[in-house]
Amino acid sequence: MFSSDLAIDLGTANTLVYAKGRGIVVNEPSIVAINKNNGDVEAVGKEAKEMLGRTPGNIVAIKPMKDGVIADFKVTEKMLTYFIQKAHNRKMLVHPRIVIGVPSEITQVEKRAVMDSAYRAKASEVHLVEQAMVAAIGAGLPITEPSGNMIVDIGGGTTDIAVINEGGVQGTKMFGIGGRAYTHAVERDLSVDFEKAEELKVGLSNNKAPVSQRPAIEAALAKTADVWISGIELALSEFTKLDHLPHRMFLCGGGSSLDLLMDRLEQTEWYKTLPFTRKPSVHHIRPDQVSGIKDTTGDVNDHTFITAMGLLRVGMDTKQFAEDSGSIRDKIDKMLSV
Ligand SMILES: Nc1ncnc2c1ncn2[C@@H]1O[C@H](COP(=O)(O)OP(=O)(O)OP(=O)(O)O)[C@@H](O)[C@H]1O
Ligand SMILES: [Mg+2]
Repeated sequence: MFSSDLAIDLGTANTLVYAKGRGIVVNEPSIVAINKNNGDVEAVGKEAKEMLGRTPGNIVAIKPMKDGVIADFKVTEKMLTYFIQKAHNRKMLVHPRIVIGVPSEITQVEKRAVMDSAYRAKASEVHLVEQAMVAAIGAGLPITEPSGNMIVDIGGGTTDIAVINEGGVQGTKMFGIGGRAYTHAVERDLSVDFEKAEELKVGLSNNKAPVSQRPAIEAALAKTADVWISGIELALSEFTKLDHLPHRMFLCGGGSSLDLLMDRLEQTEWYKTLPFTRKPSVHHIRPDQVSGIKDTTGDVNDHTFITAMGLLRVGMDTKQFAEDSGSIRDKIDKMLSV
């Protein structure tokens, strides 16, 4: 049966689209190339990224999402429209129902902006769900275990945290440090441009960074990691209604690819001031731990995609309950607390 329903993980760095029954159909950078002379969109996604650096002077590449929120409404709308069309093989006969993942603590105004963009991109129905919560579901973790879990999704602009125990999702928190902050640190300390800094940062995990530069890159990342760790500590200290925190932490999102973060979480005593009953253990979540999602792009292969996968599952599963009363959030809570 053909369905036009879509779930979209509108990320600061990457956007993923899942089409019901078909799996992940779009996985592209959140970039739009605009012609400065007439405002026309020249390219979106991968194509726009390829234009970066080798564009004629009249074309600018815009990243319309910043820190997990829409910084440029018009461009976001154009990007959404393009991805929605792409997901439908450019057939715009149908007006899809769309579920979109947003950071945990965005304001009503920001939520409204995301929804308006999707409606203007021809959606018939739009639902927003929180990224941290869907990352938790994407992880497919046992949620009924008394000990519970914490899911930490480190994206480009934000870190989103969900705490889950036998009572279901106990809450979500976020703070504005993601992978981009690390890239900026490298940019600043090594006096290179953002693109080069990104290359050096990623090069550290895949061994492509020049050996002579590694110490300087590591030093830049280490300083940011200190601030990030404080962010984690502070965010977790805000779960004041819980008498203790779950001692298992699962990392996902592109930003969690830095080994340094895992090392810090394991090797420092950041948790000492928090109500843990024992030292938290830290793990990565991998897509093969997530069931029920098919990937048609062929490159959904690591923890980077967990939020999208969860979103897709939550979004679609939630739609099955569309006739139920109550908010989407209630429904998700209900699903989670089964
Ligand atoms: N191998 C790697 N090493 C280090 N960092 C990486 C690696 N791969 C991706 N990243 C970083 O991950 C970040 C993007 O992660 P992700 O795709 O999860 O973000 P997003 O979902 O688009 O953003 P957000 O959730 O904040 O809106 C970027 O900052 C990127 O530099
Ligand atoms: Mg994300």
